Amino acid sequence: GAAELGPYRHYMQKEIFEQPRAIADTLEGVAGIVPELFDGAGVHGEPGAAAWRVFKEIDSVLILACGTSYYSGCVAKYWLEDIAGIPTQVEVASEYRYRTSVPNPRTLVVTISQSGETADTLAALRHAQSLGMQHTLTICNVATSAMVRECKLAYVTRAGVEIGVASTKAFTTQLAGLFLLTLALAQAKGRLTDEQEASHLKAMRHLPVALQAVLALEPQLISWAEDFARMENALFLGRGLHYPIALEGALKLKEISYIHAEAYPAGELKHGPLALVTSAMPVVTVAPNDALLEKLKSNMQEVRARAGVLYVLADADTHIESSEGVHVIRMPEHYGHLSPLLHVVPLQLLAYHTACARGTDVDKPRNLAKSVTVE
Ligand code: AGP
Repeated sequence: GAAELGPYRHYMQKEIFEQPRAIADTLEGVAGIVPELFDGAGVHGEPGAAAWRVFKEIDSVLILACGTSYYSGCVAKYWLEDIAGIPTQVEVASEYRYRTSVPNPRTLVVTISQSGETADTLAALRHAQSLGMQHTLTICNVATSAMVRECKLAYVTRAGVEIGVASTKAFTTQLAGLFLLTLALAQAKGRLTDEQEASHLKAMRHLPVALQAVLALEPQLISWAEDFARMENALFLGRGLHYPIALEGALKLKEISYIHAEAYPAGELKHGPLALVTSAMPVVTVAPNDALLEKLKSNMQEVRARAGVLYVLADADTHIESSEGVHVIRMPEHYGHLSPLLHVVPLQLLAYHTACARGTDVDKPRNLAKSVTVE
């Protein structure tokens, strides 16, 4: 009821603002990277030694999920290959379950789900098992769900109950769980020194504070949302780790504001979508100060040359300034591997405030269900 909402207008807004707490809960009691983290917080009974044996045994990862959970898997692919050196595939569950694929019994099958009851993801898991893949792990927000019951290993995220149909805190806690999984696999493969482990954990522990600073940008996103509320289309660009964040930003905007939004890896711009760019097509650019920044800047010039209006999420130390047709929001700090957890937050706020400005039913958007338990 309204009492639970406190100062917030909708559950989605409340859940966006709960993210620092959710991430802090995720890390509570985590003193180091241990296989016990993947037991399912006591729900499952599979001893940590089993997780360790599985992590030593596997030679690849296959991630299966839908929607926002699929996008967190897409971020994890970059981490798993870069930090743990493990070949990783990510596939939409409804595609995987119906196609002929080449099973590898040494693959770790990872399902990701907020509800743990998504029909396609459960069917994809059972399909993988039927093909002889027995190493299964879920990253799931509901400890009592079918997904946790049916996977050998489990990491239960601590987002708490998520009510808004548009997933927000479930996504960032999935990312936190997937980052811990990456570190555990890196450790099992002998690719993580004690110093590296300590420095990754230190960065994770600072996330709640970093997230608070990002949430404080809300007034600037409200002002962007006034422009977006008048648009019928939007394009989201990102590269590398932030390409899935662009996808997630576009999905959020579609779901709750009903604005048509598409995301592209920025390098694909001139291979097609640039033809769509006019002054009526705002282009959101996720621009962390990483190795790809210079390339991203030249993509931005291509947009400006076609009168496209840019909305840039730049890191503090990025030399991109606001100018005619270029709106810049500066993120408080540069965050390396964990940067996707921060960059997604302004995109959640942009979608939320755009939907509010358009007067849609934010927590229960038309045609959608919170948990898709039928095909
Ligand atoms: C996210 O905003 C969506 N409503 C949707 O894509 C969702 O992430 C998807 O249905 C998967 O749900 P799950 O995480 O509960 O499996």
